[in-house]
Amino acid sequence: MIFIGSRQVTVPGAMFWRVYRFPRYRLISLPTPLEKAENLGRRLGIELYVKRDDVMELALGGNKARKLEYILGDALAKGCDTLITIGAYHSNHARLTAAAARKAGLDVHLVLTPPGSPEPQGNLLLDMLLGAEIHYASSEEEATSMMEEIASRLKERGRNPYIIPVGGSSPYGVLGYAAAALEIMQQLRSMGVEPGYIVHASGTGTTQAGLILGLKLLGAEVEVVGIGISRPLREARERVSRLVGEAAKLLGVDVGLEPEEIVIMDDYKFGGYAKITREVVETMKLAARVEGLILDPVYTAKALYGLMDLASKGYFEKGAVVFIHTGGTPIPFQKADIITKYL
Ligand SMILES: Cc1ncc(COP(=O)(O)O)c(C=O)c1O
Repeated sequence: MIFIGSRQVTVPGAMFWRVYRFPRYRLISLPTPLEKAENLGRRLGIELYVKRDDVMELALGGNKARKLEYILGDALAKGCDTLITIGAYHSNHARLTAAAARKAGLDVHLVLTPPGSPEPQGNLLLDMLLGAEIHYASSEEEATSMMEEIASRLKERGRNPYIIPVGGSSPYGVLGYAAAALEIMQQLRSMGVEPGYIVHASGTGTTQAGLILGLKLLGAEVEVVGIGISRPLREARERVSRLVGEAAKLLGVDVGLEPEEIVIMDDYKFGGYAKITREVVETMKLAARVEGLILDPVYTAKALYGLMDLASKGYFEKGAVVFIHTGGTPIPFQKADIITKYL
């Protein structure tokens, strides 16, 4: 860290710059805003900031756009002409993959779960507008093997497909949030804020792995607190640890963490992935009514609930807290029937 006038500035170390050696296809303008949540912070008795990764110009934005910049960089460097990925029928990752493919002039196949004919709303409606070829599978495992089958069929026809694992969980996806770590630290430093924690919804673990890796390369002592929203704790920690290792290997740096060192809070799933209860909707209402902040009921509302509960237990004693709004803007429209039950 150095000082310019009275302002602290985060200067990346030599290892960090390796992140920028990888091809990146520009999808969004950065930095995204970092705003102080005065009202909510006061209520919780903490200094709270919100990193607005829901504010991006690509198809309503979200954390997947950062990952896709590096994933597309790799796909285009390999001469690929079609993206294939999987997700739930309300998947933000599927929507942003479709949008990124279109922006780069590529074809796109999405394998969504579960089958049936869900109402074309929210992300699914946007997938259709984007003209993605949509296939259905009944589980993540089945969807994963369907991706392989689609890729083989395309190769037989002389195409060059690129498979993106669930949620963009590849080492290239991790690089997107390693780069975001520097962006966040620079914004905080220029505001004169001493951060203690970054809190966000953790699903495939890619966002968390990127933040951890980026902060390590910067030598920043900030705790990354993932709020688990889908996978069992052990699997979630192992995924983050594996992704940190894979991305570190890609960068040629010596960073590794044991699964037990990864901080993931497991008490805020409210019955499991995409299960929506009264508490989840109450959190959406609170964020909207106190900060004018729109959350989604699958990821960001559960993450904020976790943050608020931890604050009430005095968890955040080391410094300011940054909540990453990871996106999900279309999901409330897709889940309107459940949300309106608790309004
Ligand atoms: C809005 C939102 N927040 C958080 C996540 C979780 O991110 P990650 O898969 O990188 O853990 C996702 C991904 O599914 C998401 O769409």
